[in-house]
Amino acid sequence: MQAAVAANMAGIEADCGGLLTCATCHVYVREPHASQLPPPSADELGMLAFTAAERRPNSRLSCQIDLTQALDGLTVDLPASQH
Ligand code: FES
Repeated sequence: MQAAVAANMAGIEADCGGLLTCATCHVYVREPHASQLPPPSADELGMLAFTAAERRPNSRLSCQIDLTQALDGLTVDLPASQH
């Protein structure tokens, strides 16, 4: 989420600044990286219930993804709307 906001990428609203209270950083993570991410926490799962767009099996809140070297090349798709 921070990388997207720093790059002024449209579509990542991140209204709460990463405090896990808005779900406006919703993304769909593509494979092979989706299955390499740690599972969502209970709090992230709770917020994923409030995404504006359809929740999919690869839905994640981007503010909860810690970028590491292993995630180099991570690709996400954005929902049509975050609100
Ligand atoms: S930025 Fe608000 S939940 Fe991710």
